[in-house]
Amino acid sequence: MSQNPSVPLSRNEHLLRWVDKMAALCRPAAIHWVDGSAAEYEALCAQLVAGGTFTRLNQEQWPGCYLARSDPGDVARVEDRTFICSHAREAAGPTNNWVNPYEMRRKLRELFSGCMAGRTMYVLPFSMGPVGSPMAQIGVELTDSPYVVVNMRIMARIGLPVFQEIDKQDRRVVPCLHSVGAPLAAGQADVPWPCNREKYIVHFPEAREIWSYGSGYGGNALLGKKCFALRIASNMARDEGWMAEHMLILGVEDPRGEKTYVAAAFPSACGKTNFAMLIPPKPLQEKGWKVWTVGDDIAWIRPDARGRLRAINPEAGFFGVAPGTSVRTNPNAMAALARNTLFTNVALTPEGGVWWEEMTPQPPARLTDWQGKEWTPEIARATGARAAHPNARFTAPASQCPTIDPAWEDPEGVPLSAIVFGGRRATTMPLVYQAFNWTSGVYLGATMGSEMTTAAAGTVGRVRRDPMAMLPFCGYHMGDYFRHWIGMQKRLTETPRIFHVNWFRKGADGKFLWPGFGDNMRVLKWIVDRARGRALARETPIGWMPQYEDLDWTGMEFPREQFEALQHFDRALWRQEVIGHEELFLDLHAHLPKEMIYERELLICRM
Ligand code: OXD
Ligand code: MN
Repeated sequence: MSQNPSVPLSRNEHLLRWVDKMAALCRPAAIHWVDGSAAEYEALCAQLVAGGTFTRLNQEQWPGCYLARSDPGDVARVEDRTFICSHAREAAGPTNNWVNPYEMRRKLRELFSGCMAGRTMYVLPFSMGPVGSPMAQIGVELTDSPYVVVNMRIMARIGLPVFQEIDKQDRRVVPCLHSVGAPLAAGQADVPWPCNREKYIVHFPEAREIWSYGSGYGGNALLGKKCFALRIASNMARDEGWMAEHMLILGVEDPRGEKTYVAAAFPSACGKTNFAMLIPPKPLQEKGWKVWTVGDDIAWIRPDARGRLRAINPEAGFFGVAPGTSVRTNPNAMAALARNTLFTNVALTPEGGVWWEEMTPQPPARLTDWQGKEWTPEIARATGARAAHPNARFTAPASQCPTIDPAWEDPEGVPLSAIVFGGRRATTMPLVYQAFNWTSGVYLGATMGSEMTTAAAGTVGRVRRDPMAMLPFCGYHMGDYFRHWIGMQKRLTETPRIFHVNWFRKGADGKFLWPGFGDNMRVLKWIVDRARGRALARETPIGWMPQYEDLDWTGMEFPREQFEALQHFDRALWRQEVIGHEELFLDLHAHLPKEMIYERELLICRM
């Protein structure tokens, strides 16, 4: 760490001027230029322990790990407080909150005025994507949260190398301003998790600026992630001819040792991290099949000089949901988070370890829950109290994942052969099918949806349309986004094949028809073989489907009738499904590309 962190680490005039201006607005007690070193990280973690934000875990069991408990009102992304403030309301579209940018700037200036009093303002440079990669983008986050700094050190490339990049190239950076919105008066003691009841997560797409106020939670405060890498980057991507997508990236190694890369978009809470780290069933492993992980949440995709799509994971870590993660469901994630990981809102064991629901078949006899209260299985049974918050998170370095792909930091990205969309659907959607072509694939992604699982009256089982899993993340009009997808084909000499999967179809008895997890490899193998032109399929009204014989069943007894039930095309249900598509299209109609209307008409005709 540099001797005096208040000394600027960049010579970039624009950056220096902006930092001065924002400091004059926010009035922090000190400024700290983040060099990104291990020593600085250690010092900040020690400071967070001293201030009560972090608990250092048992270092023998959990080396380099810490636990944070957030304010109970600051545990998740706040979609209703997230704004896309484009000049024209029309440009943000009906699926985003919009406020006139002049009005919003006035409001933000008010909120940020003096908001960092008594705190340190960290000047945190970060690169989304490997530093220096032609596909990477740079941001600088000014934040008054040391929790944000240490999390960002895991989630992105930060510090000196990024300042050097800014100075070397005089590059345009995305300015990101973040405050927890809790100024301290002279002598006022701090709380472990400062935040504000009032929250604003604001994007200015034309100016490429992010202002985030009132929350310390990852999705609202680690501004490189959803705010930059999806909402702002989707605007850049549209303007520059590339794609910023809410997708995992994985590489499938086949028995010949060839690798085929696949990107996949599922709505939040549909098992993206598990799929990205899939372990094939033993018999398929023995044949030589293996899955490699490139990323679990975001993909930036760009055509190369040959007209082929290449993808990078702009992140450097996993910000994953802890509950449900276990050695059974995702041993690779468990290995990745075993050290150097920051946990937020999980439970603490008496030995100084962490626990969350479903981590082990039996819960420990006694815990401290995510709110710092005593928790036992008896208390849980009596009150329903959860040990970990359902959205408790781990922040773990991607490099620690045992299946991390050797090419995951390739500055040119990995070549993409297939794109997979999916959702959680109890009926209608088969286990897997392939779109006829790029445009019908875009239609398939645009109309994808997931059943809501929360028990709000009348909503259980209702399908929430979540186009390309981008509903909360597309930084402009969703209709224009579909148009951009359609238009990408013109830039390509080779289009990836597009598929839809559904691991969640249920039978008449209400039970899942498909075991999921490792056996998803059988579906993935068919997808990869299709993309490489070496698997068969039959034509149906919605697309190409495998027959029973087309999947590899080695080591698995799976009745043919059950597979047929999984793949069944139900005409009546599909009629309803298409009516659901119409509802989405009505909302977007003024900006909807005509291809979407034609695809819908064709689908209806085929039915
Ligand atoms: C996430 C999400 O946190 O999609 O990744 O909500
Ligand atoms: Mn996500």
